[in-house]
Amino acid sequence: MAAVEIENLVKSFGSLVAVSDVTFQVREGEIYGILGPNGAGKTTTIKCLMGLLDPDSGASKIYGISSLDDPIEVKRLVGYVPEEHHLYDSLTPRELFEFIASIRELPSERVNKRIKEMVKALDFERYFDSMIVTLSQGNKQKTMLISALLHAPTLLILDEPFAGLDVRTAKIMKDIIKIHVEGGGSVLLSTHIMEVAQGLCDRVGILDDGVMVGEGTIEDLRSQAHEEGATLEKIFLRLTEQEEEVQIGVDALREALSD
Ligand SMILES: Nc1ncnc2c1ncn2[C@@H]1O[C@H](COP(=O)(O)OP(=O)(O)OP(=O)(O)O)[C@@H](O)[C@H]1O
Ligand SMILES: [Mg+2]
Repeated sequence: MAAVEIENLVKSFGSLVAVSDVTFQVREGEIYGILGPNGAGKTTTIKCLMGLLDPDSGASKIYGISSLDDPIEVKRLVGYVPEEHHLYDSLTPRELFEFIASIRELPSERVNKRIKEMVKALDFERYFDSMIVTLSQGNKQKTMLISALLHAPTLLILDEPFAGLDVRTAKIMKDIIKIHVEGGGSVLLSTHIMEVAQGLCDRVGILDDGVMVGEGTIEDLRSQAHEEGATLEKIFLRLTEQEEEVQIGVDALREALSD
């Protein structure tokens, strides 16, 4: 069974079609990356999958379960790190983790061990008792990540997980993702970082204006873009038809800077 199954998903906001007939699967044990320019529909797709937005049509399932039919089971299976932080500013990470553990009814011994290990791995000890409002962007991201992993979910859904992370933490984030799939889990992530997508993801889907313009392994994409041996960045710019725009921008910049 697929970890994620999205079929003919359509979601509009008024007259704007944010996601237009998108279909893809994340197989079990796979790291799948959704790529796409700003506004391409990545977050909207993820929110529909999580049951946070009602699609106009189409279906999305997690391990065969529709997020609209059984949101509680889906929340048990999934660890979700959204693009925007919705954290309780006046709590400390310790209080937040305790709160999440209590509402999820997680056994305290196991969850405390897990928190301790993750806080250590992420070099987060010194922020553990600081109010969330005072944390930097990267440390808020770490708080979100630990919160999402507390219940040992099978599927991780990470919307731009590398945004704002320093080099060490980005490396740890990649390791967390790899360890997660080695342990039998699956990962769906969105990212703008082509090196991450190329190095980490088994398959990627490229969204542009709500449409899936390319999908598969890097090799699949190379042949879809007729670009043998090309980097993902080049394929991405070709498939999203931005290659020429980038060149025009660079030429204009070169001229402006040489004056
Ligand atoms: N609540 C909303 N109301 C109206 N329009 C929306 C809403 N949410 C998203 N959109 C629009 O839908 C489109 C897709 O947005 P989405 O956030 O899914 O893009 P994205 O691929 O995640 O982009 P980014 O890389 O900037 O995060 C955009 O044009 C956006 O402005
Ligand atoms: Mg987004």
